Amino acid sequence: MRDRIIKVILNSHKEFVSGEELSKELGISRTAVWKHINALKEEGYNIESVNKKGYRLLDSPNDLLNPQNIYHNLKTEMIGQNIIHFNTIESTNDYLKQVGNDVEEGTVVISEEQTKGKGRLGRVWDSKVGEGIWMSMVLKPNIMPYKAPFITLIAGASIIKALNNLGVQAQIKWPNDIIINNKKVCGILTELSAEIERINYVVIGIGMNVKNEDFDSILENKATSLYKEGYKLHRVDIVKEIFCQFELLYKKYLEDDKEEVLKVCRDYSAVIDKDIYVIRNNEKELARCIDINEEGNLVVKSEDGEIKEIISGEVSIRGVKGYV
Ligand code: BTN
Repeated sequence: MRDRIIKVILNSHKEFVSGEELSKELGISRTAVWKHINALKEEGYNIESVNKKGYRLLDSPNDLLNPQNIYHNLKTEMIGQNIIHFNTIESTNDYLKQVGNDVEEGTVVISEEQTKGKGRLGRVWDSKVGEGIWMSMVLKPNIMPYKAPFITLIAGASIIKALNNLGVQAQIKWPNDIIINNKKVCGILTELSAEIERINYVVIGIGMNVKNEDFDSILENKATSLYKEGYKLHRVDIVKEIFCQFELLYKKYLEDDKEEVLKVCRDYSAVIDKDIYVIRNNEKELARCIDINEEGNLVVKSEDGEIKEIISGEVSIRGVKGYV
C-alpha cells in the first residue's frame, strides 16, 4: 500500500494530492492514508502535509534507494526492473550469488549499508549507511565464461557515461576503478558462477562513494566521493542513469557490438599513455600502457620493449607516482 501511495504522489509532480483523492484511488479510509503517510515520513520521505490541500512530496524523494523511487520513470526493459532492497546486509554481491539461479536477469540488490562489503582481491569495501551506492546486478549472458571479464568494462563504460550525463567528469583505471582527480570514487567487483562452457550467472557489484565527507587515513590519499569533488547528486538519479546506460551497452555487446564500450574505455582511460606498475602476486613490473585491445585486455610495453597483453583478474595496476 505504501508503494502505491508513493507512486501517486510521485506522479503528481510535486502538486498537492488531497487525502480524499488518495483514499478514493487506493480504496482505504482517510485515516488509513494519514497513518501510511506518517509511516512514510518516518522512513525518510520528505512529505509536506497542509490542511485542506493534502500531501505533496518535496524535492527528490529524500534519496532513499528503495525500489519505488528507482522504478519511477525508469526507462529500462530489464536492468533494475526487479529490485531487492535492504537497509543493511553483509554484501549485496554475496546475497545475489546465493539467489542468482532463482532470479531473473537484470535483478538488482541494493542496500543502504553493507557490513561485510567486499572489494577486489579479498579487500574490504567500506559501505557506510546512506553514504554511497552499494548494489549488485545479475546477468545471464549466453557467452563463454572466459569472455566474462569484458562485462566489467561494460559496467565501467556505463558508469562513465552515466556520470557524464549528470555533469561529472570521470576516468576509468582499467579494468574496474572509476577515478576523479586521480582518486577512486567507484569500484566494480565482477563474480561468476559458471561451468566449463557456460555461464550460470554473472554478478556485477558496484560501489560508489557519493556522500562521504571524509575517509580514514589509509584511504585518504586514494579515495574520494562525488560530494568531496563538489558534486551534490542524488543517489537515485545516479542509479537510474547507470541502469539505462548499462542496458544500452550490454544489449549492443550481446549483438556483438563492443565498439562503444571500447571507445569509452579508451577515451576516458586514466592509464593509457602512462607508465604503470603491473602488480601480480606481490611482483611489480614497470610498463608503458599503450592501449585496450578488442578483447578488452590491456596492452603494455615492458622496459625491454616487449609488447604484452594483460588480462584482468589477479593483477593490480598502479601509477608510478601513486594511485594512478
Ligand atoms: C573494488 O574496487 O575493489 C571493487 C569494489 C566493489 C564494491 C561493491 S559494493 C556492492 C557490491 N557488494 C560487495 O560486497 N562489493 C561490491
